[in-house]
Amino acid sequence: MDIVVGVSGGIAAYKSVALVRLLIKAGHEVTVVPTEDALRFVGAPTWEAISRNPVTTSVHDDVARVRHVALGQGADLVVVAPATANTIARMAAGIADNLLGTTLLATTAPVVVAPAMHAEMWQHPATQANIRTLRERGVRIVGPADGELAGGDSGPGRMSEPEEIAEAALAALAPQDLAGLTAAVSAGGTREPIDPVRFLGNRSSGRQGVAIAREAADRGAEVTLVAANIGADVLADAAHPRIRVVPAATAADVAEAMGTAARTADVIVMAAAVADYRPATAAAQKLTKEGGALERIELVENEDVVAGLAAVRSSGGAPAGQTIVAFAAETLPDPAERLARARRKRERKGVDLLAVNHADADHGFERADNAVEIVGADGAVVASAAGSKRDVAAALWDAILAARP
Ligand code: CTP
Repeated sequence: MDIVVGVSGGIAAYKSVALVRLLIKAGHEVTVVPTEDALRFVGAPTWEAISRNPVTTSVHDDVARVRHVALGQGADLVVVAPATANTIARMAAGIADNLLGTTLLATTAPVVVAPAMHAEMWQHPATQANIRTLRERGVRIVGPADGELAGGDSGPGRMSEPEEIAEAALAALAPQDLAGLTAAVSAGGTREPIDPVRFLGNRSSGRQGVAIAREAADRGAEVTLVAANIGADVLADAAHPRIRVVPAATAADVAEAMGTAARTADVIVMAAAVADYRPATAAAQKLTKEGGALERIELVENEDVVAGLAAVRSSGGAPAGQTIVAFAAETLPDPAERLARARRKRERKGVDLLAVNHADADHGFERADNAVEIVGADGAVVASAAGSKRDVAAALWDAILAARP
C-alpha cells in the first residue's frame, strides 16, 4: 500500500524516523511529506534515505506530475506524525498552502494523526475543538500520551510511541469487508436507580463494546452504538462518521434502543453488561438510614434483552439472515467449566455466537486487554482471541462474517 507520512515541526519528528521504518517493514511504500519547519528538526536526507523516496515540501516541485494533488490521490493512507497544534488547526480549517496541506485535501484515504505539543496547547479549547472536528470527519487521533515534554515540562502532549502509531496506521488500512452491513452494538453497563443518587451498577467500562463498534465502522459497516454509561474518554473512540451513538442508562433503556435498532440490523452484538435485576421501585427522594429504608432493597427481574431480540427474530420480525451475538463474563477459573456454561447460555438465549471472556484481575472489566473464546453452533469454539480489545473486536467480526449465511 502507498502511505504518506506527513511530518510537522516538532521535536518528536525524530521519533517518526522509527515510524517510517516500521511502516516500510510491514511491507508498505512510504513517501514522507515534511513541512518547512519539520526540516529544521530532521533533514530531507534522513527522510529520503529511510523512505527511499524523494522528499519535498513545496507545491511547486514536480509540477508536471501535479504532485500537490497526486500524492493525496494515490495514497491508501495518510499519517501525520508529529501533528503540531498549528498543523491540526490548519487541517481542521482545510488550509492548503504547503504540500502536506494539499495532500490532505486531495485524499479520500483514511487519515491518522499523532498530536505532539505542550500540555497547555493540547488542552486549549481551540485545539480541542479542532480535534473534535477532525474526529467527526473520521480522522483517527492517536494519543497524545502523558509524560515528559520538551523543556522539562510534563503533561498530556507527548507524541505516542512509533509502535502505537504504526499499529493504528495499519488498522486504518483495514479491509472494507463489512461494507453494506448494518450493526447494532450495545456497550457499557446499565445503572438501575435506587433513588436519585444511588444505583445498582457494574464495572463494565464499555471499552470492549466501543472497540467492536469502531472495528465494524472502520471495516465499512453502519453502526448504532447503544452506550450505557460510558465515560467520555472511552466514548471518544466511537467518534466516526458511520457510528451513531444512542445513550441508554438502564436495562429498560437498552432494551428499547436495541429493539429499535434491531429492526434494521444485519448483526446485533450485545456487549453491554445489563443488570439482571433492578430495584422494584426507584424512590423519588433520596433514601436515608432513618426508618431502615436502605437495609433491604426489593429487586425485580429485568427483561433479558438479547433473548428478547432472538425471540423477535424467530417470529420473523428481523431482517433475513440477522446474526445475534451475546457476551458472557465468567469468573470460573476452570476453562472447561467456563465453556460448558457458555454453551448452555448460548442455547438458552437463542443466539448464534457467544463470546466468553474470563473476567479476572488481568482480563475483562476496566482493563485494556481482553481474552475471549467464541462459541458457535453446536457449541463449537469457532475462534479465540487475546490481546487488545481492538484485536478481540477484529477476531469477533471475522467470526461473525464466517457465521453469516
Ligand atoms: N443480557 C441481556 N439482558 C439482560 C442480561 C444480560 O441482554 N437482562 C445479555 C448481555 O448483554 C450479554 C449476555 O446477555 O450479551 C450476558 O448474559 P449474562 O448476564 O452473563 O447471563 P445470564 O443469562 O444473566 O446468566 P448469569 O446467571 O451467568 O448472569
